[in-house]
Amino acid sequence: MCGICGVVGHNQAAPIVFEGLRRLEYRGYDSAGIATLDEGRIERRRAAGKLGNLGETLRERPLFGTTAIGHTRWATHGAPTENNAHPHGTARVAIVHNGIIENFETLRRELEQLGHRFETETDSETIARLVDHYLSEDQSPREAAFAAISRLEGAYALAMIFADQEGLLIGARHGAPLAVGYGDGEMFLGSDSLALAPLTRRIAYLEDGDRVVVTRSGAEFFDDKGDPVERAVQTTALVAGVIGKDGYRHYMEKELHEHPLVIGQTLQRMIDPATRKVVLPDMPCDIGAIRRCVITACGSAFYAGMVGRYWLEEIARLPVDIDVASELRYRDPPLEAGSLGLLISQSGETADTLAALRSLRNAGLPVLSILNAEHSTMARESDAVLGTVAGPEISVASTKAFTAQLTVLACLTIGVARAGGVLGDAQEEELVSALLDLPSRAAEIFSFGDDIRAMASVVAEARDVLYLGRGSAYPVAMEGALKLKEISYIHAEAYAAGEMKHGPISLIDKTVPIVATIPSGALFEKTLSNLQEAKARGGRLLAFTDERSAHRLNAIAERTIALPHVHPFVTPIIQTIAVQILAYETALLKGTDVDQPRNLAKSVTVE
Ligand code: F6R
Repeated sequence: MCGICGVVGHNQAAPIVFEGLRRLEYRGYDSAGIATLDEGRIERRRAAGKLGNLGETLRERPLFGTTAIGHTRWATHGAPTENNAHPHGTARVAIVHNGIIENFETLRRELEQLGHRFETETDSETIARLVDHYLSEDQSPREAAFAAISRLEGAYALAMIFADQEGLLIGARHGAPLAVGYGDGEMFLGSDSLALAPLTRRIAYLEDGDRVVVTRSGAEFFDDKGDPVERAVQTTALVAGVIGKDGYRHYMEKELHEHPLVIGQTLQRMIDPATRKVVLPDMPCDIGAIRRCVITACGSAFYAGMVGRYWLEEIARLPVDIDVASELRYRDPPLEAGSLGLLISQSGETADTLAALRSLRNAGLPVLSILNAEHSTMARESDAVLGTVAGPEISVASTKAFTAQLTVLACLTIGVARAGGVLGDAQEEELVSALLDLPSRAAEIFSFGDDIRAMASVVAEARDVLYLGRGSAYPVAMEGALKLKEISYIHAEAYAAGEMKHGPISLIDKTVPIVATIPSGALFEKTLSNLQEAKARGGRLLAFTDERSAHRLNAIAERTIALPHVHPFVTPIIQTIAVQILAYETALLKGTDVDQPRNLAKSVTVE
């Protein structure tokens, strides 16, 4: 959700910032821009659309100077035009901003009365003009920046440069992430460690409310009152190499192929190979004594949570409430003592999930988070974290992070069930075996490429698609429908298969394909009956089942894919990979921008 990058050093800074923005483009790609200090003067180039357009502009009109900031935008206030693109500024200051300034209208009116003329529709320009105002009162860059920052309400990560101040960057964070990178005679600012990965592995993260003054030789941190604070420099494990496409056409294709690896890595962290027991790190409470679990997340992570609910209720016998974070945060539900808050997020920065985390903690619940970003805000604010070992996920649509979340939820279920005394050794061994079998079974799915492509050719012709599933295959259907919508722009909805007859059945005709997630197991016959009902009304059935049950679907389905047969516990993970590949193949046929679908951004740090 907007990416920020800044550099002070001795080399030309614009190309370094441009490469940083390339690694941040997944956070927003409506427009982009860079500003440098050229012999003390602020110069900037901006372009609407993808970063490539800014690249063209820079080729025609390069930027010079060793101090620079850059931005890739996901528009909130103001259309994604060149004029609204960051950096914003005046002759004295240029800023880039990620977040939303909630009191920008008040500030803007105040500044207009002081004679400022605004050039854009953005909330962000207000920050630049406010800093300019304080600079015009002869305040130093630091004083002016801090004075302006202390008047901002809302969420922001900021980076600023100042005319005639070579080698100076000022940054701040409040509700949106910002990291400082330490180089050799060079220093960097970035929205995340990914932006800085090829430049340095030594990173310090700003905490909420922090400001930072960065020069070529180091960084000074201050808290929200302007008092100096220390922030530890950490060594990130990220290396630039993990961020390429490795010969795949898209990051999404690469990340889909990483499913087996990611599941394996996550299991390695959670299962002791010697004892074959799930090992949970320090939990925020006695997990054997939890009386209820409140799960919350957004988007795909929410669907992972829904699968988790089926598992925790059925296997661990733990009552579960689940709600999307944007609702939970305002719902103010009565929360029983003895409940555990369980959060799921790839980025660890999603604004709604973070707000829900805070409201659960304020209500006195211990909070356990399943996160992919180990240095994220949620990681810092949770009582305990279970890490998914998915690595950086660049494609905007989540794939491998989702199956890693399911893998962690499966292990957590086993741990809770054992601690609660409802899972015997033999059952635990059975479930653990099913999990350990997963990486190799997941790898087999890629041999179904031709079949899934054939299915995709039916889906790609449709305007609307229904996804149906029961039990834990229902959230998998939801994930399949979301992925299809996101990257192919085909309208898709998922229903619990038994709900179809209560309304959606009226949509069924030969133009609306029905994608069914129907693995063997206790609910197979029930789902099959629902599919028969759809077939009787002219529906075109496309079924994901497994080797054991494929023969039952062949008669009614136009296309049946017999995925590897696995233990029913882990079928949602296998089925998820298949529906994600279907979405990918459909998007290829539609010719959409798979990795950067329109209007979306990764890491949604606004409400
Ligand atoms: C879907 C997708 C989104 C995210 C959601 C939550 O493909 O990527 O729905 O799952 O925005 O993001 P995180 O997990 O970062 O909190």
